[in-house]
Amino acid sequence: MTPRRTMTQDELKTLVGQAALQYVEPGSIVGVGTGSTVDKFIDALAASGIQVAGAVSSSVRSTERMKALGIAVLDAAEVQGLGVYIDGADEIDHGGHMIKGGGAALTREKIVADLAQKFVCIADESKLVQTLGKFPLPVEVIPMAAAQLARRFAALGGVATLRAGVVTDNGCHILDVTGLKISDPVAFEADVNQWPGVVTVGVFARNRAQVCLLGTSEGVKTLS
Ligand code: 5RP
Repeated sequence: MTPRRTMTQDELKTLVGQAALQYVEPGSIVGVGTGSTVDKFIDALAASGIQVAGAVSSSVRSTERMKALGIAVLDAAEVQGLGVYIDGADEIDHGGHMIKGGGAALTREKIVADLAQKFVCIADESKLVQTLGKFPLPVEVIPMAAAQLARRFAALGGVATLRAGVVTDNGCHILDVTGLKISDPVAFEADVNQWPGVVTVGVFARNRAQVCLLGTSEGVKTLS
């Protein structure tokens, strides 16, 4: 018998990008996240022939990709709600809490996710963790607050580094924070969100993923 070949991370991303199509209702408006996994979803949607009324995008990157493939992109302000929001994650735990923002799009991602009834996370199996915090936590900040916020994270045992050369779609900066163990993601998100100068913390816990399509070499596993 030929041994099963281990799939590459890129192949796993393609797998879950395609699997997410089952959550797209023809004629609906779909919320679309950002990242290399979402790129696979966008490509799959364009190739699928499923006619959507349009998409609300969480980044310039995803907007450009969708427009290039003929998917209409609507302004978030034009829609009152979305059935589903599909996005990747940098980490996801078994409760659907996530770290996001590796692509610096976390603020718009949270805004579009908030419009949706259901958050479907698409990720390869390397993203599944027991406890959030190994991936450096992205935090979008007002530039003048960066140094003070780095001191606040230091008080929690974290080391915050300014992401060099990055200005977000909203004209802000990103701190990446290592050394945190986020055992209560809901409380952590609520707390850090209130620090002056924080635009968005990259913990997505209050609005967690209801479904995670996890790409594994055995196929797509659905966690919910
Ligand atoms: C962008 C994100 C992405 O969803 C996250 O970084 C995962 O990206 P990828 O699919 O490329 O691994 O939060 O801000």
